[in-house]
Amino acid sequence: MARIIGGIGTTHVPAIGKAIAEGLQNDHYWKPFFSGFDYVHKWLAREKPDVAVVFSNDHGLNFFLDKLPTFAVGAANEYRNEDEGWGIPVVQAAKGDAPLSWHLIEGLVNDGFDITMCQEMLVDHAVTIPLNLMWPSGDWPPIIPVSINTVQHPLPSMARCLELGRSVGRALATYPQDIKVLVIGTGGLSHQLDGERAGFINKEFDELCLDKIVNDPEALTRYSIHNWVELAGAQGVEFLNWMAMRGALTGQVTQVHRNYHIPISNTAAATIVLENAGTAARHAA
Ligand code: DHB
Ligand code: FE
Repeated sequence: MARIIGGIGTTHVPAIGKAIAEGLQNDHYWKPFFSGFDYVHKWLAREKPDVAVVFSNDHGLNFFLDKLPTFAVGAANEYRNEDEGWGIPVVQAAKGDAPLSWHLIEGLVNDGFDITMCQEMLVDHAVTIPLNLMWPSGDWPPIIPVSINTVQHPLPSMARCLELGRSVGRALATYPQDIKVLVIGTGGLSHQLDGERAGFINKEFDELCLDKIVNDPEALTRYSIHNWVELAGAQGVEFLNWMAMRGALTGQVTQVHRNYHIPISNTAAATIVLENAGTAARHAA
């Protein structure tokens, strides 16, 4: 049986890719952010996930405003990266796990999520930056990319993304292979890249989100997308990816690590590690 070992939420700002390429991790500006991954590296070395489900949003590399699925799931054995124009290096392709993708797709469709299935999919900085942050050696596990529309309104709600994650969690629980699965949510926290409020950050609201996502994610579903844009900025809605990650953690959830740092580029950068104790383990305890 597949076992969900935990979830990681992290920012995906492209400038991080440039800092990695130039080896700036210990510079004054970058250290408070990169040092937040020391714990993550130790945790991953101990937990050794076999595969990662990555909830993120595409920024125009796959889908543009003309055609933008609300939810899209990759079903390939490889996902290439391409130049998005940020001036960061194109990185290696991520491996996929098509049989597990199809299992998740079956589960999602049976649960009423009419997702788009992608047997070809590129991955942008919202996937590659988090993978490089978590596994700097480049030894990434195979991934299942799940793309959530955070760009073209109307967006799905916080509640819907939490349910999407729960559906993925239920499907994983019935996957017959004995594998350890990590779920990842990327983007956020508060940021706005354009318009009059460019540079907007809301530390108080970010801290509320980081507190609630651990044990009371339902509390965050009372905010409409409109509220969220007001409180967290136009791109702060990338927290939808974090909600899906949290939804997939179906067991007893404990926060084991958190780092919050302002700013990285225009963004309030956050990293969180949540452990998920499975039902069987809880019964045995
Ligand atoms: C930035 C943040 C993002 O989420 C993104 O996708 C691109 C840029 C930034 O703060 O620079
Ligand atoms: Fe983004």
